Amino acid sequence: MKALITSGGKGTRLRPITHTSNKHLIPIANKPMIHFAIEAVAEAGIKDVGIVYNPDTGDEIKKALGNGGQWGINITYILQEAPLGLAHVVKVAQDFIGNDSFVFYLGDNVVVGGIRRFIEDFSKQKSNCHLVLSKVKDPERFGVPEIKGKKIVGVEEKPKKPKSQYAVTGIYLYDPSIFEAVNSIKPSQRGELEISDAHHYLIKKGYKLGYSEITGWWKDTGKPEDLLEANRLTLDRVIGDDEPVLRGKVDADSDIAGKVIIEKGAQIIKSNIRGPVIIGENTIIENSYIGPFTSIYYDCYIKNSEVEYSIILEKCKIVDVDVRIERSLLGREAEIVKCNSKPRTQKFIIGDQSIVELV
Ligand code: G1P
Repeated sequence: MKALITSGGKGTRLRPITHTSNKHLIPIANKPMIHFAIEAVAEAGIKDVGIVYNPDTGDEIKKALGNGGQWGINITYILQEAPLGLAHVVKVAQDFIGNDSFVFYLGDNVVVGGIRRFIEDFSKQKSNCHLVLSKVKDPERFGVPEIKGKKIVGVEEKPKKPKSQYAVTGIYLYDPSIFEAVNSIKPSQRGELEISDAHHYLIKKGYKLGYSEITGWWKDTGKPEDLLEANRLTLDRVIGDDEPVLRGKVDADSDIAGKVIIEKGAQIIKSNIRGPVIIGENTIIENSYIGPFTSIYYDCYIKNSEVEYSIILEKCKIVDVDVRIERSLLGREAEIVKCNSKPRTQKFIIGDQSIVELV
């Protein structure tokens, strides 16, 4: 069995962060999002992994993932010239997959709990295509299956009137019959080869579709709120121990409680940290409060400030901020500091499509 992981797409809903970085490299619990997909396939024993990239994001992805050695897998990079849909991604990977079965994993989906169980269900049910479903509040945002009895009888992409409460998540298992589908379907109204149309094709042609319902959790990280939510759920599960893991320095005047990881070289000075929280390498937290569900990446400096339920990327500076920062996503090297000179005014240097909410 092989694996195919997506790493492209523009991530428009995550701007401005995605103006300068591929959304698959945005960290969740201080780990680039796509690492979760790679770890899941590696943990399932898959060695040959194809990463599909777009021309504008390829270099960044290749630099970040290398040849896969660090996970004990071999990565083959596959170019998708233009973003023409997920079924098109499968199409361009046909030579790489050959006659194998494979897992198709969207690199912006984060699943805790691994994918072994789905691979087992797929082989037990001996189906041609196996979908992983999750009950959601807003199925109209996703591919939606129609289920009769215990059978999927149709799949629609982002339907106005969903025929079930389920979303088809971004984890699919296929045998080579999927290539007949992706080579037969026509582009949708938005000009893309839709993966849901490929699934629908398989059903209509009498191929066998199976499914698993996700038992852990799953989140499509399409919008900033989703990212904060994925960070919350991941921190809660990834940091297993209730005892803090202290690889950096914590002084005697600091108080650390709950699931907390302080990475190497980090320093916590006169501060209170309430987990789940992860503090990256060489970050300094001084005279501050860091509250639950916060991930602070490496080389940050936070002084005389309070941060909670947020994701702070590398090299950010937050100094002397009187109000607590909450539900926030700070891109690389962002600074929020108090104005100490006269006139005392609010000053902003804000990139395209940034959002600031003041009290
Ligand atoms: C894509 C698929 C959709 C699926 C979703 C899962 O949607 O087209 O069927 O439910 O991924 O993440 P997109 O994220 O491209 O809107």
